Amino acid sequence: MRKNYHDPTLKIFSLNSNQPLAQKIAENVGTKLGKCAVRQFSDGEIQINLEESVRGDHIYLIQSTSDPVNTHLMELLIMIDALKRASAKTINIVIPYYGYARQDRTAKPHEPITAKLVANLLQKAGATRVLTLDLHSIQVQGFFDIPVDNLFTMPLFAEYYQTNGYCGEDLVVVSPKNSGVRRARELSHYLETTMAIVDQRSQEEKNGLDYLIGDVYGKVCIVIDDIINTGVTLATAVKVLAANGAREIYVAASHGLFSENAKEILAKVPINKICVTDSVWVPDENKPDNLEVITCSDLLAEGITHIHERISMSPLMKWGK
Ligand code: R5P
Repeated sequence: MRKNYHDPTLKIFSLNSNQPLAQKIAENVGTKLGKCAVRQFSDGEIQINLEESVRGDHIYLIQSTSDPVNTHLMELLIMIDALKRASAKTINIVIPYYGYARQDRTAKPHEPITAKLVANLLQKAGATRVLTLDLHSIQVQGFFDIPVDNLFTMPLFAEYYQTNGYCGEDLVVVSPKNSGVRRARELSHYLETTMAIVDQRSQEEKNGLDYLIGDVYGKVCIVIDDIINTGVTLATAVKVLAANGAREIYVAASHGLFSENAKEILAKVPINKICVTDSVWVPDENKPDNLEVITCSDLLAEGITHIHERISMSPLMKWGK
């Protein structure tokens, strides 16, 4: 942890999505959060006032575009506009959770690509650089024409499980769906263990059948995904693992949104512990009882200091061994 960062041109601001995380990041960098007031008029319109000068400064603006997604996105756009008009030298947006990233292609006819739309909006507003964490798909970086640093949470989870003694032959890392195999493979490399895949079928094709590829009988499983939203994907995978004789089941995800009835859905299946990062702030009442939160603040603080001091980001991109 750094203390008392001495470059007065580095300023960190936070909007409303995740103040506790922003506070920790600022402490890790060794500075205080900049002053700004974010208000909503009675009709819902957002108004932002910068309460200090940013002329010629390098700004790091922290905001996850999490629930309420549209409000948080508008806050971000309006603040970028305020910073641009107040003559900030660079506007580096730090987005621990980049919402709207799941719609990253036209999967069915007539669908929008919101990941690209949001990238356009952020750039048009005046963002000059993006620092983010575990994009839903890495290619979303290419939707921007400004530098994007996408850091990975996998080393954080690997360290968490290693520290708690999870490794070796007894353990299997599981992808809860076909599209998450790469993520599961990376964690299994870190933990030096085998992996399995739950082949979840779409509602139309499955007739109630999901398949397991791999062997979990009598094993300890760690199921890894990028997002827990309603909890349905993970709960479905956990049921398949339990039916196939898994001894203990742990689940992990980079971004815990826990929307709708996620808490109840996850409570109905046999999960020993759920682990997420603090990229998204979640009200206590939405948190599952068996939740453990690890912080991504050190990683993001390192990212900020690397960018600011023009140090290579490569040492922070530990994706795979
Ligand atoms: C989807 O592509 C994501 O990777 C997650 O699997 C999904 O967002 C999880 O959503 P839910 O918790 O609602 O099943």
